[in-house]
Amino acid sequence: MCGIICYCGKKQAVPILINGLKRLEYRGYDSAGFSVVSEPGKSKSNKVRKNIIVKTKGRVFQLENKMEGIDIDATYGIAHTRWATHGKPSHINAHPQTDCSGKIGVVHNGIIENYKEIKEDLIRKGHVFKSETDTEVIAHLVEEFFTLCGGNLENAVLKTVQKLSGTFGIAVIHSDVDHKILIAKRGSPIIIGVGENECLAASDSNALAPYTNKMVYLSDDEIAVLTPNDYYIKNLSNETLDKKVEILESNDYKEDKRGFEHYMLKEIFEQPESLENAMRGRLIEGEGVSKLGGLEPVIDRIKNTKQLIIVSCGTSYYSGLLGRYIFEHLTELNIEVELASEFRYRRLKLNEEIAVLALSQSGETADTLAAIKEAKRKGALILGIVNAVGTSIAQITDAGVYNHAGPEIGVASTKIYTSQLVILTLMALLIGRYQGVSFIEGSEITDALLKLPGQVREILKEAPQIEKIALQYAKYKNFLYIGRLFNYPTALEGALKLKEISYVHAEGYAAGEMKHGPISLIDKNFPTVAIAPDDLTLDKMISNMQEIKARSGKILSITNPGVKKVIDISDDIITVPRTIPILQPVLNIIPLQLFAYYIAREKGRDIDKPRNLAKSVTVE
Ligand code: G6P
Repeated sequence: MCGIICYCGKKQAVPILINGLKRLEYRGYDSAGFSVVSEPGKSKSNKVRKNIIVKTKGRVFQLENKMEGIDIDATYGIAHTRWATHGKPSHINAHPQTDCSGKIGVVHNGIIENYKEIKEDLIRKGHVFKSETDTEVIAHLVEEFFTLCGGNLENAVLKTVQKLSGTFGIAVIHSDVDHKILIAKRGSPIIIGVGENECLAASDSNALAPYTNKMVYLSDDEIAVLTPNDYYIKNLSNETLDKKVEILESNDYKEDKRGFEHYMLKEIFEQPESLENAMRGRLIEGEGVSKLGGLEPVIDRIKNTKQLIIVSCGTSYYSGLLGRYIFEHLTELNIEVELASEFRYRRLKLNEEIAVLALSQSGETADTLAAIKEAKRKGALILGIVNAVGTSIAQITDAGVYNHAGPEIGVASTKIYTSQLVILTLMALLIGRYQGVSFIEGSEITDALLKLPGQVREILKEAPQIEKIALQYAKYKNFLYIGRLFNYPTALEGALKLKEISYVHAEGYAAGEMKHGPISLIDKNFPTVAIAPDDLTLDKMISNMQEIKARSGKILSITNPGVKKVIDISDDIITVPRTIPILQPVLNIIPLQLFAYYIAREKGRDIDKPRNLAKSVTVE
């Protein structure tokens, strides 16, 4: 939520900042802006450095348009793309925010919870506020402390941060302080990129990747000072810290849409490779077991675990729901799945015999982060499945597994969902083989896993056919998605895909629950998507589908080839290859991702950046 990029070096800052914002736009896209300090000119009238703030409501390209014909000579600055929390999207609420003197620029990702008290106090001291944002208090606080600290920006930011409660990744510049950018972190990500004669910082490493592969990840309550040739990091007690420089793997950085119309479509089509990457080096075929190096340090604790609680949000929550069925099927563990935003407020009896597993693409989702912090406090073992390397959730876990799926840019998650399902299966297999799962059963699972990427390729070849079907359904305003057991989460995720990118109402339901309410909605204008593979629940699914037909409801079914019972009762059919029941959802979701995509495209929606949403939700 909100993207920050900073540059301090010798090159022109504005183009670098704008490019960075384009890479971060998935994090928020209702307004954008930058603050740079201009170099003093040769003329008498321009002998001092000036803080120049340019911002706009709307997208980064609108900011870029605003810059046409304007030349700013500046070699350091900060920039921001916003997802509004306090104050509607507008020019005045866009970041950077500034102080009374206009010399300070501040960008912020997160929420300052005590901003009202701070604001009232600063107003009493004579500060004049212009925006409705919580962020503006940071600029005025820095202004206040800058004077008190005799013009020392570092101390002013340190004192400011000590006053703030809530979450933040912030960057600050001051036009009286030459070539220095101050950044600070609590709860929201900010990463330093160390270049040749230049230092950068950003909300994610992908925005820094074109300039450097040397990353330094700040932890909570750390501040850093960036100059062109150096950087140093301190904690809030003003002690200098020695932090490791991490090298970003080159495949963590992908440039463009590779010819696809949208990132979402590219990411749907990347699933054969993202599944291969999720499994690479993690299967011991001859032994019917998996090998997850990231879990090895805690494997003894895992073996003694009695209960596993999966916590996550959004699509990651739905993969967690399926994870419950997979773990129940393969292990002796008691499994609970909880929305992270609820988990953190529950009165749970956690202890060291309980493991809490966070699922998160971004590794920054505020609710998931808060949930595992709470669980850690109570002594539980904290595990993670995270895609974005080095992020806050990855840092807090005791052990975990990376997806290695490459960046997911489209706001609607696709390749990470299927990658999470595969890694959950690998984890359950690892634990299950210490428990009841036999070599034969384990081998069936490893065989099925290895076939998945090829089977996904087969489904993707059918995209033109799926598109034709989707276009026939694009006129409907409401959809019901139903499934049973392993495919109940598929119904939820399929419906979520449609609603988030096409803005069409869609409800996911457990098929057996349909008769307790949603069936009252069914008529000829309310189609149902039935996820009805050839498994043990098929006869019950058929009964539910008959109930829909009896009410003139239209049915589109996702099933396996040649399942006559489903063919007979459905208006339209999409078939997917057969696999073992626990993995069938990995294949079943692919046509549903494409179905949602083609309907949204037909409706002319902004598929990669749907309205009101953001990719990385760093507010609670
Ligand atoms: C946002 C995104 C979703 C994502 C959810 C959880 O809502 O739009 O696509 O599923 O956050 O994100 P995470 O990064 O924790 O998986």
